[in-house]
Amino acid sequence: MKVGDGSTDAKRRAAERAAEEVADGAVVGLGTGSTTAHAIEAIGRAVAEGLEVRGVATSRQSAALARAVGIPLAPLEAVDGIDLAIDGADQVADGDLVKGGGAAHTREKLIDAAAERFVVIVDDSKLADRLDWPVPVAVLRGAEGVVADRIRELGGEPTLREAERKDGPVVTDDGHLVLDGDFGTIEDPGELAADLSAIPGVVEHGLFVGLVDAIYVGSDDGVEVREYE
Ligand code: 5RP
Repeated sequence: MKVGDGSTDAKRRAAERAAEEVADGAVVGLGTGSTTAHAIEAIGRAVAEGLEVRGVATSRQSAALARAVGIPLAPLEAVDGIDLAIDGADQVADGDLVKGGGAAHTREKLIDAAAERFVVIVDDSKLADRLDWPVPVAVLRGAEGVVADRIRELGGEPTLREAERKDGPVVTDDGHLVLDGDFGTIEDPGELAADLSAIPGVVEHGLFVGLVDAIYVGSDDGVEVREYE
């Protein structure tokens, strides 16, 4: 099975278990993607049954779904803090993540890192021994050429992410372009994360190192919960 090919049931199982962590009165960071969509729907059902929460969305997509299922939303600047963030990932190894398959990693990292507790939900096809998924790098418009050169200097092969039903590149919710940097097996995710962050013109990259509190892994057999310090 290749990464990202996991079953819908496995995604849903992980998402619904994680949604049970949402406490009454909580401010919840709502991640982006097909796995998180199951969590947003589960939280919506709990809201319909009386749970009081406020959601802080990481993308237009998660905001639209949250509204559709009845979760009240607040902008990040209007909340005192985030109690719990629930988000998906493209690849997981040793508690570190590659995110940004939906080009939402800039706001995802902002909100996930701000949360008191950050819970990741994945199906078991996302698990790897070492991270080797291409790392999405959001860049300022016009900076894509110089940032691509710096990614090559770091040993990566950058590809400007192209839109599928629009001519030209993907433009993120915040107006940035995305370079997917293929570094092969990432020997030291912390070092690469710091190197990418230091490149002028980089807005945010999709390596999430040392941020996770728990990972819910869904499979055909159930859900495994991995807690991290
Ligand atoms: C979006 C993300 C997603 O969480 C990641 O791409 C996983 O998506 P999915 O649950 O659809 O596999 O990082 O930017």
